[in-house]
Amino acid sequence: MSFQEEIRRRRTFAIISHPDAGKTTLTEKLLLFGGAIHVAGAVKSNKIRKTATSDWMEIEKQRGISVATSVMGFDYQDYKINILDTPGHQDFAEDTYRTLTAVDSVIIVIDNAKGVEEQTRKLMNVCRMRKTPVMIFINKMDREGKDPFDLLDELESELDIHVRPLSWPINQGFSFKGVYNIYEENLQLYTPNKQSISESVEISDINSGELDKFIGEPDAHQLRQDLELIHGIYPAFDREKYLSGELAPVFFGSALNNFGVKELLDCFVEIAPSPRPVQAQERVVNPYEEAFSGFIFKIHANMDPNHRSCIAFVKICSGKFERNVNYKHIRQGKMMRFSSPTAFMAQKKEIVDEAYAGDIVGLHDNGNFKIGDTLTGGEDLHFKGLPSFSPEMFNYLENADPMKTKQLEKGIRQLMDEGVAQLFTSEFNRRKIVGTVGQLQFEVIQYRLLHEYNAQCCWEPISLYKACWIESDDPVQFEAFKKRKAQFMVKDKQGRDVYLAESPYILQMAQRDFEHIKFHFSSEF
Ligand code: G4P
Repeated sequence: MSFQEEIRRRRTFAIISHPDAGKTTLTEKLLLFGGAIHVAGAVKSNKIRKTATSDWMEIEKQRGISVATSVMGFDYQDYKINILDTPGHQDFAEDTYRTLTAVDSVIIVIDNAKGVEEQTRKLMNVCRMRKTPVMIFINKMDREGKDPFDLLDELESELDIHVRPLSWPINQGFSFKGVYNIYEENLQLYTPNKQSISESVEISDINSGELDKFIGEPDAHQLRQDLELIHGIYPAFDREKYLSGELAPVFFGSALNNFGVKELLDCFVEIAPSPRPVQAQERVVNPYEEAFSGFIFKIHANMDPNHRSCIAFVKICSGKFERNVNYKHIRQGKMMRFSSPTAFMAQKKEIVDEAYAGDIVGLHDNGNFKIGDTLTGGEDLHFKGLPSFSPEMFNYLENADPMKTKQLEKGIRQLMDEGVAQLFTSEFNRRKIVGTVGQLQFEVIQYRLLHEYNAQCCWEPISLYKACWIESDDPVQFEAFKKRKAQFMVKDKQGRDVYLAESPYILQMAQRDFEHIKFHFSSEF
């Protein structure tokens, strides 16, 4: 196979959802179709068992085990599919945001009864920023849920994206009969079955009596009406709009019952993008360029304190990556060679000799890499990562063992480079403030500092609402603001000015009083 074809056949994507919508189940069914696993229930994925939600050690153990499932690669038809797993737990949302920098498209899973939920909304914001093509799978059609037309309206308004159904359900819950595949123009009849694929019937003409035979006259009548309405309301599916992130095709099904999943996958491989050009600071990098380039989007620490090695995950942006070839680590300005790069096939890790643009390889690392680092064949390129988003919880970091100050500083620095949390330094009293998206990370940091760096910390809570990166064209007002808010002014890791707002109301007042100051809720603007 030619170099070009290798790249063209790659589909690298993530499945995202609010917890419990069915992400793990859908992932598993996709692997089943790809022949990568043979029985349902084989994938534990990054799914964190509900009983363990308050016990982060257990969670980390499960996450540790799931390194192998961080990326699941398999061949399907002529395509090479890479599914990037994202943590099921909301407290690890930052991890998910970063994973989204490494994918070329996304499938969003929505629970038919719950519609758009909080986490889906947040993740969609990240997709929108990056113009990532999005496909939507409405799951759990075997249960009673919302009216499908209402759901489509909800998707459009809540996720701020145009939608176009490419399949349509015939009832739901107890009376669910199947879906009509608008894209392929055939009918899938529903038979609950967790292991095998459901029956598909070719319907040459939706108006023929054949349809009535399969689903009964009243439902056939309703389906014809619904389809007419869909064609009336929604313009024909436009792939270009999908690729530019403006339009999301929507599918209905039941992941648990293996229903509607194959249709989703077949359509996905056909329309989803192959590796896309990536913007570096210097220029746009085309995946088909021969020279290798890539960036680190995730670092997975080893939970065994005796082996502090990590796995750094590289997304290949262009060319071919080869084992034992020298590549340049741009930030450190040094050449590095990797003797055991790992690829991820289904649930196995294996050493690979080569990988192509679109693929993810895991590199063993002893502290050389930070999130966002670029590796190339020699050219000085810097890929832009994802901006940091405002954390939602803040604590002062206290050193609990003054004899171990150096260890604490080193540990905190490395954990922040790994992207565990964000560190701010107060301008007012030089104290360090750690911000996270969930309470669990504070426990993770405390535990890891102790076990990996022999340092002890404790937390002193601060009640804050948001971190705002601020800028202004008016230096006088900018200085006046910083003076007024001196107690709440901090610097981030890059030395940028950040204002920690105490409450929504106080932020609103500040925005009103200082109209020449721009308040941003992410570090890139
Ligand atoms: P997540 O990764 O998005 O968090 O969700 P996951 O796949 O674990 O699914 C959450 C729950 O929803 C699971 O039930 C799963 O079996 C169920 N589920 C997934 N797809 C469907 C579907 O199409 N129809 C129905 N009726 N249920 C579905 P659970 O009881 O929480 O877990 P388990 O004991 O079944 O694993």
